[in-house]
Amino acid sequence: MARLGDAIVRLDEVDSTNSLVLGDESYLSRDGLVVVARRQTAGRGRLGRTWYNLPGEQLFASIVVHPGTAPADTPAIALIAGLSVADAIADACAVDARLKWPNDVLINGKKVAGILAESKPGPQGAQRLVIGIGVNCQGTTQDAPPELQEALTTLTQESGKSVSPDAVLQAILKRLEAQLERLAGGHKTELLVAWARRAHVVGRRVQFPLPKGRGNGIAQGITPDGYLVVEDVAGLRHILVSGEVHWRD
Ligand code: BTN
Repeated sequence: MARLGDAIVRLDEVDSTNSLVLGDESYLSRDGLVVVARRQTAGRGRLGRTWYNLPGEQLFASIVVHPGTAPADTPAIALIAGLSVADAIADACAVDARLKWPNDVLINGKKVAGILAESKPGPQGAQRLVIGIGVNCQGTTQDAPPELQEALTTLTQESGKSVSPDAVLQAILKRLEAQLERLAGGHKTELLVAWARRAHVVGRRVQFPLPKGRGNGIAQGITPDGYLVVEDVAGLRHILVSGEVHWRD
């Protein structure tokens, strides 16, 4: 596996760093390449959502990873990326950064960072992932629409510090590289245990999507593949592969 961030492409403005990388072989073929933009005009989130540019300097980055691990490890890699971001933020800002499955990073219950992991196979079907990371670094949400103020926060708002997006990026790359090496070295379970600890997942009350409507239950943990296990009020076990859950406490 290549070193992450040995090459960094820095752009002023782009529609979406993930879209750019996924659509261009000259980026996608370079394991470890990082593309960073100061602004996105069409930032994308999970589940087809928009990723907003809050006022101020924010981190919008896409990291190319050719993991060389089994495709079944891809969901775990997305979780590990979230763990790296949460660890980096907690260390840099001395805040209690927590994870919400699969890989939202929250401080005091509000979202400060999100991960959009996408993939496109290469020649001979080789796995190529684009790990898109958005971190709300500077400014506050006070001028944002009320629904965003409720849901989002920034590092500055939570820590009172002015943290540069580049410092956050470097801290994330260092951790992500180390954790991907541990994954390749066969330490997946240990990494998922670290994820679960940062998410305070076991015993948490969760609202989760069902084929029709939503259910309520208690999180039991995550599977070795990185899926969320929830037991509903009737004692039925659900294994969630994707979708949006809400932490209820
Ligand atoms: C989410 O929480 O829904 C995921 C948000 C991911 C946002 C980042 S910003 C950089 C990269 N480019 C995008 O268009 N999205 C990701």
